[in-house]
Amino acid sequence: MSNIKRGTTRREFLDALAKVGGIGAVYSGMATLGLLPVPKAYAGIPRYDATVGAGKSVVILGAGIAGLCAGLLLARAGYSVRIIEANAHIGGRSLTVRRGDSYAERGRDTLTCDFDEGLYLNAGPGRIPNHHTAIIDYCRELKVEMEPFIFASRANLMQSDSFNNGTPVQVRHVKHDIRGQVAEMMAKATDSGALDGYLSGTDRERFLAFLTEFGDLKDGAYEGSERAGFVTPPGAGRTPGKLRRSFDLEEIIDTGFYKNSVYNDMRSFWQASLMQPKGGMDMIVKGFLRAEIPGGETVQDLVVTSSPVSSVRNTATGVEVIHATGTETADFCVSTMAPGLLAGVQNNFGSDFISALRAVENIAACKVGWQAKHRFWEENDQIFGGISWIDHPISQIWYPSDEFFSAMGTMTGAYNRGAPAEAFGRLSHSERVRLALEGGEKLHPGFSNWVHVDRALSIAWHNMPHFNAGWHGYTHNLNPAAYRRMTIPEGNVFLAGDFLSYMPGWKEGSVRSADIAVGYIVGRTG
Ligand code: ALA
Repeated sequence: MSNIKRGTTRREFLDALAKVGGIGAVYSGMATLGLLPVPKAYAGIPRYDATVGAGKSVVILGAGIAGLCAGLLLARAGYSVRIIEANAHIGGRSLTVRRGDSYAERGRDTLTCDFDEGLYLNAGPGRIPNHHTAIIDYCRELKVEMEPFIFASRANLMQSDSFNNGTPVQVRHVKHDIRGQVAEMMAKATDSGALDGYLSGTDRERFLAFLTEFGDLKDGAYEGSERAGFVTPPGAGRTPGKLRRSFDLEEIIDTGFYKNSVYNDMRSFWQASLMQPKGGMDMIVKGFLRAEIPGGETVQDLVVTSSPVSSVRNTATGVEVIHATGTETADFCVSTMAPGLLAGVQNNFGSDFISALRAVENIAACKVGWQAKHRFWEENDQIFGGISWIDHPISQIWYPSDEFFSAMGTMTGAYNRGAPAEAFGRLSHSERVRLALEGGEKLHPGFSNWVHVDRALSIAWHNMPHFNAGWHGYTHNLNPAAYRRMTIPEGNVFLAGDFLSYMPGWKEGSVRSADIAVGYIVGRTG
């Protein structure tokens, strides 16, 4: 920018900008000058003329959220659509398990849910952040009823065998002790003049006032705080309450809590508020399936289940897809299959495309679900929703965000990912249950004696047929060239799925990538 001088006209400014940064810079420069509207990141659910796809056909591989979304948009635009799903279950990882539902990991016994009628477990995804506007738009349009998903309660627990003699502590205790003690250190550094290079006299006073509020300091010192909770809570009459003792900052830092639990609710995708479909994550799947398309059909009518794909080939006129129950010829294909699985079917793809598919990292993920005999977390621990974190293979326990005070409920008794999930996934169901009881005991005494829970499910997504992962890595970071290659269609084959987004593991990535694939197909039609 050094060759752009002050006082130039708009025209000169844009010309200079074009020399420095090319047409993209001109575009954002024009936007800066207010000459162009900046397009919103997400412009809403795409609407195409219902005749755009007349006479053209698309075969979609996979009836998860990306496949169903692409199917809906294409069918609405007049394309003839078939969605081929390998599993008997429609919805991909959006699996909500209720009494009588069963599933089996590869080479393992079938597990059948024996939870009481009316209870369910989201065995796959369980939450949607407030800023995932695309999936929220689809939920709104498809009339999927939503309710809050409580990610964090300050009454949630944290536990490590190396901290507080293994006794769990409330999140509020750890969070505010850290904050208070860091504030005290900063106040001392300010007082001693250590920050004089950064702060002038009045800045110093204002900074100290800020730190007092930030850390709840008294005369520059952290002496515990009601923010961190009470050993004896304040009551009426002569019970003023007694503050908890503060933990040493060093002691807290030693636990590693700050790495993987105490600040989780600050990650952008886990910040309040989040939401969940009322009645289970598969309500979104049901919303897509009942959506009406031209010809008096619904998206449900487009889906062929239990039919794994064995071959995908580009042809002179389109694509040919062979699956267990038939062969489809179509003008276009949208594959939402896990990239590594698509690379493994018979195909005539270029080697660069196959290498890109194979470069995507698979991330293992497991869950254990419990049916509880009573809502012990509410009754004993004043926990109403949120997640407790533990330095143990189960990693975390989720409490239900709904139905407070009801007689029973389900909870997620383990949710892990990556290497711990790979190890967990190698265990038998009963070994996973044993481990989940052990982890539960550390957070809620009595757990391991089946005092609190009585029925269990477990799932390792990377072991499930036709999935090779819970979700996939951040390919745009790990292998940008592979990511870019996957955004370019291979002949008449287009990719969609959360793996082809900046949000792997989120429905938002699924629907946004489906929107893009459909946009490409519409652009190619005609
Ligand atoms: N979206 C997944 C989660 O929130 C990965 O845990």
